[in-house]
Amino acid sequence: MSIALSIIYLVATITFIFGLKLLGHPETAKRGNQIAATGMGLAIVGTIFLHDLEVPGFIYGLIGGAIFIGLIIGWLIAIKVEMTKMPELVSLFNGFGGASAALIGLVEFGNDMSNSSQVIVMSAIIIGSITFSGSMIAWAKLNGMMWKDIRLPKYNLINNIFFIGLLAFSAFIILNDGNSDLLIYLLLLAALIYGILFVIPIGGADMPVVISLLNSLTGIAAAITGVFYMNMVMLVGGILVGSAGLILTFAMCVAMNRSLANVIFGAFGGASVAEGDTQVTGSIRKTSASDTAVMMNYANKVIIVPGYGLAVAQAQHAIHELEQLLEKKDVEVKYAIHPVAGRMPGHMNVLLAETNVEYEKLVEMDDINPEFQNTDVVFVVGANDVVNPAAHNNPASPIYGMPILDVENAKQIIVNKRSMNPGYAGIENELFFNQKTSMLFGDAKATIQSLIAELKGM
Ligand code: TAP
Repeated sequence: MSIALSIIYLVATITFIFGLKLLGHPETAKRGNQIAATGMGLAIVGTIFLHDLEVPGFIYGLIGGAIFIGLIIGWLIAIKVEMTKMPELVSLFNGFGGASAALIGLVEFGNDMSNSSQVIVMSAIIIGSITFSGSMIAWAKLNGMMWKDIRLPKYNLINNIFFIGLLAFSAFIILNDGNSDLLIYLLLLAALIYGILFVIPIGGADMPVVISLLNSLTGIAAAITGVFYMNMVMLVGGILVGSAGLILTFAMCVAMNRSLANVIFGAFGGASVAEGDTQVTGSIRKTSASDTAVMMNYANKVIIVPGYGLAVAQAQHAIHELEQLLEKKDVEVKYAIHPVAGRMPGHMNVLLAETNVEYEKLVEMDDINPEFQNTDVVFVVGANDVVNPAAHNNPASPIYGMPILDVENAKQIIVNKRSMNPGYAGIENELFFNQKTSMLFGDAKATIQSLIAELKGM
């Protein structure tokens, strides 16, 4: 490899690390993404022109054409995609990453390699194929193309036996010197089937966790191919994606108080919770937009708790307008952000950033929890599980132990949702029966708009 190419790889590697660091904050995330993408572009161009590829000239034309078409398609998709469709897009990209690793494995596998090289290449085929087919199922589920979570009887047992069989089959191929193309294609097929079996039983709402896991598998597959080619950029890039994906996966599990095994094997959200264990008795108090507006108008401090319902109602612009209106009336306003509010990592941050809410106003759970006791009004909009006190009080509840926003410590609580229906966890919320709580029923966007109208009239 030429010195120039080594330098390019080094620069690209640094841009990945630096870019990832910048992705850690909403204000710098866009720049981080651009820097890492530039590094990736450099590495690709450098590899094409500076590596001794020893291929006929027309191959360069083919590579250039493929890159051009890919660029246009990727660009158009990324520009057009709606924020709420982001998990689907990530899922597709993961799938393509996995497919690339599997294809590299297929092309490179041969019986003239050492056993260790065969193991490396085979791992790329297996992990890449599982990632590809699993991501396609995740994409279909998020897209609403698979309305049911299909669960074969004893699906966990079937999946585990299938996976062990897959590993045994790989060992068999290597022990037989890997000289049969047919066996390799059969292995590819089996890995693709396992990817489908792996994702199919998992509940649709758990898909963000699975996508993050698949994302990390894509990274691992890329790192494996990096080891095979002894290519530093592929290796570092793959390791960064793999480890960042794993950290995110576990962070989501911790914020939901569930183990990764429970997400994968537990079929959460599909199973019903035992009646009685989570039932709450008592009466609720309803309120109106005009009463709520009066309460907010005379408050010193209001904390808004956004949840999944705010995203569904597309009420982010309305809530920002309400916040600005209250600030004009000298009311201090903050947003309390729970790490798994919504249905994807950072869902609320992304949603509110779209409306240019100041980042300092978005306060993370651990920082905002001590503030509730000094808060006059908490306005819970389309959030449910993330404010359910059962997480503290009811050991029988499926969310027991999940960290929540302690909104019940505030002086007054207003909850806006359309009905008494439960949230994602499928359980009742005792907060709604709290004496300090008033229920403001209605679609989030329409309700906030009427609140704004009332406040403007005061
Ligand atoms: P949820 O507990 O799902 O509650 C959302 C509430 O919004 C529902 O109770 C619903 O009540 C209400 N709603 C729906 N549409 C509405 C509309 N148009 N206007 C007003 N309200 C509306 O949401 P959450 O509190 O954000 O909690 C998130 C849940 O998702 C957690 O259990 C979390 O573990 C899970 N989860 C999150 C993630 C990530 S990474 N964020 C990943 C997987 C799972 P009505 O139907 O009565 O309106």
